[in-house]
Amino acid sequence: MSVILSGMRPTGALHLGHYVGVIKNWVELQDQYKCFFFVADWHAMTSNYDSVNVIHEARREYVRGWLSCGVDPKKAMIYNQSDIPEILFLDRVFLCLTPPGWADRSPSWKDLSVNPNKRLDNLGFYTYPILQAADIAIVHGEFVPVGEDQVTHIEIAREIVRKFNRTYNANIPEPQPKLTSVPKLLGTDGRKMSSSIGNVITLRETEKSLQKKINGMKTDDQRNGIENPGNPDNCSVYDYHKVFSTPDVIAEVNAACRGAKIGCGECKQKLGGCMKPILMPIAEKMNSITNDECDQVLFEGNKVVSPIIKKNWEELRQKVGF
Ligand code: TRP
Ligand code: SF4
Repeated sequence: MSVILSGMRPTGALHLGHYVGVIKNWVELQDQYKCFFFVADWHAMTSNYDSVNVIHEARREYVRGWLSCGVDPKKAMIYNQSDIPEILFLDRVFLCLTPPGWADRSPSWKDLSVNPNKRLDNLGFYTYPILQAADIAIVHGEFVPVGEDQVTHIEIAREIVRKFNRTYNANIPEPQPKLTSVPKLLGTDGRKMSSSIGNVITLRETEKSLQKKINGMKTDDQRNGIENPGNPDNCSVYDYHKVFSTPDVIAEVNAACRGAKIGCGECKQKLGGCMKPILMPIAEKMNSITNDECDQVLFEGNKVVSPIIKKNWEELRQKVGF
């Protein structure tokens, strides 16, 4: 069975972007592949080195979210990156094999020159794709589920693995991106959904808070009242319909909006009606899973993954001869 690896940086609250973009995928993948899913806490350090308590809270909250959405520790291996030090040992070797030019190609690093962010202006973040390569290679990961914007990171990982194999006569599999279509879900203000902006719908909304957030969402700003037609293609509410609503509701809203037969208020009510049956059971589980249970899942997962990684590292270390 092919090996899949994926991780999430524990920072801030879990929101619908995570659910739709990552976690839902994991739930499908866990039945078809040998899956390694991990809390990327060393990656969170690159932005939260001065607020480590955020990482500690988010670590549990992320595991809680994964479980609540249906990720199953009996099917997938779930672990915490920093509990397995050998990942950093391989990272260190990879750093020595990687010319700075490769790291320069990272889209997240390039983005920093466009959107300066003092928090991320550090070598930990700069070398984040190299650690990501180590995350993958240390479990012999073959496929990494990513969206289009992350493909460069996997290409960098492939090149590092190739260079490692060549240099040390090893044969770590070259990882491949497993392209997942990541449906676009913008935040309630129409910008990218992000906890730091505060425009997110979390996995812990109540029926009331959920509908309230939906009601506050930006719609097609060209639409001028219910008597005029709108264009669902320019409306994030419609993007949400496409993810959460039934096909008949989607078709109905699409036609009614273009035909000026439905107002945005009613359209948002319909959306709420379709989102609640999906999100309320998740929110309920979020509230029922204790911190101890989250810790336990990581503890058990670490216990399974640690020997695998230790063995892989030992083989690689011997190849390196260090
Ligand atoms: N880039 C992921 C995120 O931002 C986290 C991550 C770290 C990861 N290492 C990885 C994902 C390796 C896939 C494979 O959440
Ligand atoms: Fe958007 Fe719905 Fe309003 Fe059309 S009716 S603009 S799809 S919220």
